[in-house]
Amino acid sequence: PQPKVVDISHIPLDGLGTVDFEGKPVVILHRSKQTIATLERDQSGLADPGSHSSQQPKFADNPYRSKVPEWLVMVNICTHAGCHTNYQQRMESGAGGFFCPCHGSRFDAAGRVFRNQPAPWNMEIPEYAIDTQKKQVQL
Ligand code: FES
Repeated sequence: PQPKVVDISHIPLDGLGTVDFEGKPVVILHRSKQTIATLERDQSGLADPGSHSSQQPKFADNPYRSKVPEWLVMVNICTHAGCHTNYQQRMESGAGGFFCPCHGSRFDAAGRVFRNQPAPWNMEIPEYAIDTQKKQVQL
């Protein structure tokens, strides 16, 4: 497959870009300092905080599930039954996260699912490269 280069320069803080990559919706979230801080807090409410059962490349083995904390690149397919989730800047916890409108699964701003949700695992992180100088993601 051809690599796809995505311009991320227009994505505002705590805003989302969406691209189609090989038929999958990929979202790119520009996380603010406050949002990044929520990922470093207590993780006991998460079903798989270390993403051991979830699909992601080795580089995503960190609380941000990304190459750089400011940018999340994720396949936006709910691991329950495959719906697309919406990003909400403030969920009821006060932190930003992803919400699935189909059966109500909630994920944090790294796509990690909370406990006792219909979705069993965190959403998938694809292989990608990022250039924060040029503000480009390559899928
Ligand atoms: Fe997302 Fe069911 S498809 S909660």
